Amino acid sequence: MTSDAPTPPPARPLRILALANQKGGVGKTTTAINLGTALAAIGEQVLVIDLDPQGNASTGLGIDRRARRVSTYEVMAGEATLAQAVVPTAVPRLSVAPSTMDLLGLELEMAAMPDRSHRLRNVLRGVSPDITYVLIDCPPSLNLLTINALAAADAVLVPLQCEFFALEGLSQLLRTVEQVRGALNPRLTIQGIVLTMFDPRNNLSTQVVADVRGFMGDKVYETMIPRNVRVSEAPSHGKPVLLYDLKCAGSQAYLRLASEVIQREGRVPVAA
Ligand SMILES: Nc1ncnc2c1ncn2[C@@H]1O[C@H](COP(=O)(O)OP(=O)(O)O)[C@@H](O)[C@H]1O
Ligand SMILES: [Mg+2]
Repeated sequence: MTSDAPTPPPARPLRILALANQKGGVGKTTTAINLGTALAAIGEQVLVIDLDPQGNASTGLGIDRRARRVSTYEVMAGEATLAQAVVPTAVPRLSVAPSTMDLLGLELEMAAMPDRSHRLRNVLRGVSPDITYVLIDCPPSLNLLTINALAAADAVLVPLQCEFFALEGLSQLLRTVEQVRGALNPRLTIQGIVLTMFDPRNNLSTQVVADVRGFMGDKVYETMIPRNVRVSEAPSHGKPVLLYDLKCAGSQAYLRLASEVIQREGRVPVAA
């Protein structure tokens, strides 16, 4: 028997992506903020989890330090729920669970806990059902916080700066991903590698791109994020670059990256 009631659209599965690279300054936070914004702009419901004690993703999304009453520290420590930490941003459909320096102490506190590698995975069981993407901004280290992110994630997205030593740290990161897959999270995959701060006038940048593509093949996204001053100015205004200057080359690149990310997962874009 058929019913005349309209069938509700199928629930979109939640995807959890960890933005990881143990090197600092490669574009993890910039990518969390701006890929998050671009995914929200094309209709996804996005939650950024700030897992770096520096709290740059929270600042870049306009969350004042004084406004961070409940942070990822309290959530990871089991003192608050995820919902208590999540705050909206100026971007529709984009929210953030902010961090504070307290997270630095969590490393030590967690070390003695039996479920120390799965704290975040357990926390994310409580994510609001309307969220379709969680982006975890990892600290610049392969510490227990990053291990928690990799243990909770479906896939890891690696921002790689177009500089001479780019490949050096990548092998170590890939080994860690293998280890986490073996010991903690068998479903973990590499979503992709995004080349950041690309400068076409710089021969070295071009050479690094060729090397990384030769080494990692189609794991590397077609989209490269250009070095662009508007991208670096935006955080001081507490805004994603897409709100600060939508037309600039950096914003356009993050929009292209967002469509590549959802295409790679076989998702049809939802209408915004
Ligand atoms: N495409 C870009 N063009 C120019 N500056 C960038 C770009 N991406 C990142 N930056 C700047 O580089 C610095 C490091 O980026 P960030 O995202 O904080 O790296 P990470 O989180 O890996 O430490 C920041 O000052 C940021 O504004
Ligand atoms: Mg960062």
